[in-house]
Amino acid sequence: GARLVVLASGGGSNLAALLASHGDPAYGARVVGVVSDKPGAGALDLARQAGVPSVVVEPADFADRDAWNDGLAEAVEVFQPHYVVLAGFMRILAPSFLDRFAGRVVNTHPALLPSFPGAHGVRDALAYGVQVTGCTVHVVDHGVDTGPIIAQTAVPVLDGDDEETLHERIKVAERSLLVETVGRVAREGLRVDGRRVVVGG
Ligand code: GAR
Repeated sequence: GARLVVLASGGGSNLAALLASHGDPAYGARVVGVVSDKPGAGALDLARQAGVPSVVVEPADFADRDAWNDGLAEAVEVFQPHYVVLAGFMRILAPSFLDRFAGRVVNTHPALLPSFPGAHGVRDALAYGVQVTGCTVHVVDHGVDTGPIIAQTAVPVLDGDDEETLHERIKVAERSLLVETVGRVAREGLRVDGRRVVVGG
């Protein structure tokens, strides 16, 4: 199966969903390492519970952003991943990092890109007043949330939603989408043709 390294900064519900599937050989991918920029990330506890090695690479331990990016790339490289999955990773990766894993870094974002990129996709969608938002799994390019889209799911905004209730509804859809999409990519491969992604092509 394909080797996955998951990068996570937060609670790790998306990581948890991947860990719940990766034990099945038919899934075609397994999480071989988890890397976080935050020592307190819940994702690290999930990795430990699952017996998956985890590493913290904190910006505070490096002289500058470039040095941190290089340190992060080294830490990821150790696991020899086929794919790097950003699952709630809240920092921008430098081109030097992305070029090392070119076309093999996949991100999940809590909005229907190209709408509402960035760190506050849920808040921004709510503030705009859209009635439908969702989640997007995409290949990471040098821009922020601009890479070719692999899969999306629409999620309704309901009356009375706040950022938390809407994000929870999105996360339910997001977990399924990420697990399904990463599995398909792992089993069938990925080809980027301009803006279009062909899985199994
Ligand atoms: C997810 O909704 C993910 O899409 C979002 O953070 C959440 C992490 O949840 N990522 C971004 O906003 C990236 N800009 P999790 O830690 O429970 O998986």
